[in-house]
Formats: sequence, structure tokens, C-alpha cells
Amino acid sequence: MRKIEVSTSAIVFKDILELSVDDKMLMNKAIEAREKAYAPYSKFNVGAALLLENGEIVLGNNQESAAYPSGMCAERVAIWKAGSTYPGIKIKKLAITASSQISKVDKPVGPCGACRQTLSEYEINQKEPFSVLFMGELGEVVKTESLLSLLPFSFDSSYL
Ligand code: THU
Repeated sequence: MRKIEVSTSAIVFKDILELSVDDKMLMNKAIEAREKAYAPYSKFNVGAALLLENGEIVLGNNQESAAYPSGMCAERVAIWKAGSTYPGIKIKKLAITASSQISKVDKPVGPCGACRQTLSEYEINQKEPFSVLFMGELGEVVKTESLLSLLPFSFDSSYL
């Protein structure tokens, strides 16, 4: 028997103003996307912005459905848009932001488990980590250096 330690780290910024110019620009794109979310049921808007190595910025937001489980998260809308439009082009950075139509979201909102799983496949395939920034509507912004740092003991194609 042996014990292993799995740890991760992140940088926490006081607010969006503390980000670098590039990170702030990408987060502002995520905010733009968030404002166009289709979230009439949860009233919880999420926006995602991906920066690709060719300089393109690909946006996504959550798209809900009256048949609730048929909806989709912002991050997967964005990553599949990137994967289908620019196959094989590496992702450099992902910015995520969430707001509520009911109350102020003032703490960072990380990607859900299913999104982490989906995103991890792209990071593994491109053999290069991409950073992930996430925030609520206001307040602190969390920045991690890779997607896999958010998903220890992940499942991948090597198990199949
Ligand atoms: N949502 C996302 O877009 N991304 C996440 O990582 C978590 C949740 C969306 C799905 C749903 O439309 C709403 O937020 C409430 O769960």
C-alpha cells in the first residue's frame, strides 16, 4: 500500500482589473458571450471564450432546452465550435464567467465535471496545457495553468 498526494494550485486575482491585458481581453469576450446565453430555465448565464494559437477567439454560452437535459454548457458549446471549425488548432487559454438573472454571482464559477472531462481530451490531444480562468459576474478570478490540474485521476482514451 502507498499513499500519494495529488495537489493543484491556482492564482487568485482580486478582480478582473488585476488580470493582464490579454487575460482581461479574453474574459471580456467571455462576458460578451455570457450576455447572449439562452438560459430561460436556470436563469444562470455562462459564457466561455477560447483563445486559439492562430489568434482566433471562439465563444460559447449555455443553451438550455425545455427538455432540461438536452441543454448544453457554455464550455462545451465553445470547445465543440472550436473543434469543428478549427480542427487540430491548439487552444492557448479558456476564460469562463457566470452570472445569474436572480442574484449577483460574486465567487468564481469553475467548469462542471462533464465540461472538465470534455475539455481534458483536447488538452491531452494537443500535448500542451492551456490555462483556464474563471470568475462569477464580479469578484475574484481564478487562473490555473492547465485543464488537467482541475481533473486529477481523469479518464482518458488510454483506458479503452
Ligand atoms: N452551466 C454551464 O454552462 N457550465 C458549467 O460548467 C456549469 C453549468 C450551465 C448549464 C445550465 O444551463 C446552467 O449553467 C445551470 O446549471
